[in-house]
Amino acid sequence: MTYATLFPAHVKLVEVGPRDGLQNERNSIPTHQKIELINRLSETGLTAIEATSFVSSKWVPQMEDALEVFTSIERKSQITYPVLVPNLNGLERAVSAGVTEIAIFGSASEAFSQKNINCTITESLERFQSVCLRALQKNIKIRGYISCTLGCPYQGAVSAHAVANIARQMIDLGCYEISLGDTIGAGTPLQAKKMIHAVLDEVPMEQLAIHFHDTRGQALANIYACLELGISVIDSSIAGLGGCPYAKGASGNVATEDLLYMLHGMNIDTGVNLAKVIEVGHFVQNGLGCQNRSKVGQAGITQ
Ligand code: HMG
Ligand code: MG
Repeated sequence: MTYATLFPAHVKLVEVGPRDGLQNERNSIPTHQKIELINRLSETGLTAIEATSFVSSKWVPQMEDALEVFTSIERKSQITYPVLVPNLNGLERAVSAGVTEIAIFGSASEAFSQKNINCTITESLERFQSVCLRALQKNIKIRGYISCTLGCPYQGAVSAHAVANIARQMIDLGCYEISLGDTIGAGTPLQAKKMIHAVLDEVPMEQLAIHFHDTRGQALANIYACLELGISVIDSSIAGLGGCPYAKGASGNVATEDLLYMLHGMNIDTGVNLAKVIEVGHFVQNGLGCQNRSKVGQAGITQ
């Protein structure tokens, strides 16, 4: 038996850099550069690239150009380009742009829900219900995010039971997949496993994805632990960009380059070309002027 048989043979990456990454950049990135970033990512073998957010520009000015970004990128038929939608207003804007997949985003922490989307968890689920009904009528696929699954910057500990409960409700609303977010990179591997186990009581493995921010350098270790359980969909961000403007202390997501290096080193297929992704990471640094936090991006491929 090879070690690789303990892990999924194939992992799907969901690239979140153009959204999670750029929403958190201090400098505003010109629209044409956002478009170029997505077009470059589309040439790497990635099959899911989160393009932007149809949120209130009063809340997240960096995503103000969502319509122009989405309608200007060169969309490829084999790639999905989901966008974040917080309410019906956002959904209608997304529909007018021709979006085919959205992501709703809730939280397992009451305090973070208030800070991020200005409502309680219960109110958010009511809001998502009307968004999901309308999206399904329009044949739009829905992904669900749950934030603060391993800790909240405002309330501290978050119960795994609360995460599982919201995951179940989001599936019932019509989400095909739930992405479990460690928004502030607070978790460690055994905590991550415990949380996934709790969620598995409500949602099958095939409908789960993970989303680790790397604030404390735990992201790859947490991902490895979740791979051992059978997780096979992982969010990551080019050059390790990322963070949520409403999550104090949140830093970048796990870098796509670093994740690919680990997965390919474990003989796990992704269909993504690491060398091309590293080139896009250099564009992020030199073209967009963002800090490149990818270790592999800096070192290059050395084996
Ligand atoms: P609110 O202030 O309660 O909403 O915000 P409102 O309905 O009172 O509207 C306020 C104004 O925004 C109005 O404009 C609306 O028209 C407008 P005004 O009348 O004052 O001129 N508005 C909109 N404009 C465009 N698109 C819309 C929209 N909605 C309202 N969709 C709201 C509530 C949800 C809108 C706000 O809190 C919001 O936009 N929040 C988004 C915050 C956000 O994007 N956070 C980052 C993404 S989440 C994340 O990063 C975590 C994740 O990565 C997973 C993880 O890491 O854990 C996903
Ligand atoms: Mg995030």
